[in-house]
Amino acid sequence: MRRYSGLYLALSGWTVVSALANCAVSPTHPNLSACALEPLTFSCENTTAIKNTCCTPTPGGLVLQTQFWSTFTGREDAGQKLPKGSWTIHGLWPDNCDGSFEQYCDPSRQYDPAPSPQAFPNGTEIPAYRGPGIDTFIEKFKRYDLLDYMNKYWIAQSMDNAIFWAHEYSKHATCTSTFDIQCYGDSYEDKMEVVDFFHTATRVFQQYPTFDILAANGIMPSNKTGYPLHSIQNALRTQTGATPYLGCLNRTILTEVWYFSHVLGTVSSFSVRMS
Ligand SMILES: *[C@@H]1O[C@H](CO)[C@@H](O)[C@H](O)[C@H]1NC(C)=O
Ligand SMILES: *[C@@H]1O[C@H](CO)[C@@H](O)[C@H](O)[C@H]1NC(C)=O
Ligand SMILES: *[C@@H]1O[C@H](CO)[C@@H](O)[C@H](O)[C@H]1NC(C)=O
Ligand SMILES: *[C@@H]1O[C@H](CO)[C@@H](O)[C@H](O)[C@H]1NC(C)=O
Ligand SMILES: *[C@@H]1O[C@H](CO)[C@@H](O)[C@H](O)[C@H]1NC(C)=O
Repeated sequence: MRRYSGLYLALSGWTVVSALANCAVSPTHPNLSACALEPLTFSCENTTAIKNTCCTPTPGGLVLQTQFWSTFTGREDAGQKLPKGSWTIHGLWPDNCDGSFEQYCDPSRQYDPAPSPQAFPNGTEIPAYRGPGIDTFIEKFKRYDLLDYMNKYWIAQSMDNAIFWAHEYSKHATCTSTFDIQCYGDSYEDKMEVVDFFHTATRVFQQYPTFDILAANGIMPSNKTGYPLHSIQNALRTQTGATPYLGCLNRTILTEVWYFSHVLGTVSSFSVRMS
């Protein structure tokens, strides 16, 4: 696929990429050259202070890839449908190493039209965003492939997909230090980090094919047949290396799975150790 060949070129030489005047897909990854000088550590496992927050996510070093299972979107009439044979993306969250988390960390990158919560614990309001949809930021980089993928696998319930994406970006990605604007260096282009976050979240999602793992263990969606919790946990643990959090509706209907990991390097690179 084109975007993989683009990524490969970018990793093997920056000069090659900048020489490609007609490159159709703009690279949106951070500039990692300074990270070569930093000690190699998994996030949340550093034994000395992390100096360059562009190289390892901190304080949000416990990275969660969260997924939804549902059977309707409430907007089927508008063509917003769930994919067949797959869970969908909820988000990519930076929890602190103790499980607490920060949210809406950068007011200058608040693109959520309906912030939730509407205020910080100290009472300061989180203002609603009124500008262009976050999908237009992806279009600006001509990442129609990414938009198509997100419209297939990053599905909102009873709201426009792009509003949900904006919520996830503003609430969580702004607290993931390796997506900070300063990490993109001199070749930064406006909104590059937004596209990098969405691209990263979709790639990480693909590393956890929940539906396929369960199906391969004979566990299929059903309104009649139930499965013991431990068989679902075992199936997922044997394929990912750790037991994810499972969320249920009414204690019996499986609707969410959260995969926790420590990352080596940036979240964009997403080399992980499950935890
Ligand atoms: C890991 O890095 C963070 C951020 O610099 C720091 O607050 C924390 O104390 C470090 N952990 C250890 C054990 O040094
Ligand atoms: C309230 O909390 C937010 C988020 O932690 C912070 O950005 C803001 O400066 C605080 N406001 C006041 C008045 O302390
Ligand atoms: C990355 O940053 C380094 C300086 O840290 C700079 O020399 C290099 O040109 C940058 N690369 C790109 C592609 O911007
Ligand atoms: C289970 O029931 C829901 C709600 O009635 C329905 O939408 C869904 O298709 C059913 N799922 C299966 C696998 O039969
Ligand atoms: C969950 O339980 C409540 C109360 O028993 C019930 O009204 C509701 O229909 C249940 N939801 C589902 C999806 O089964």
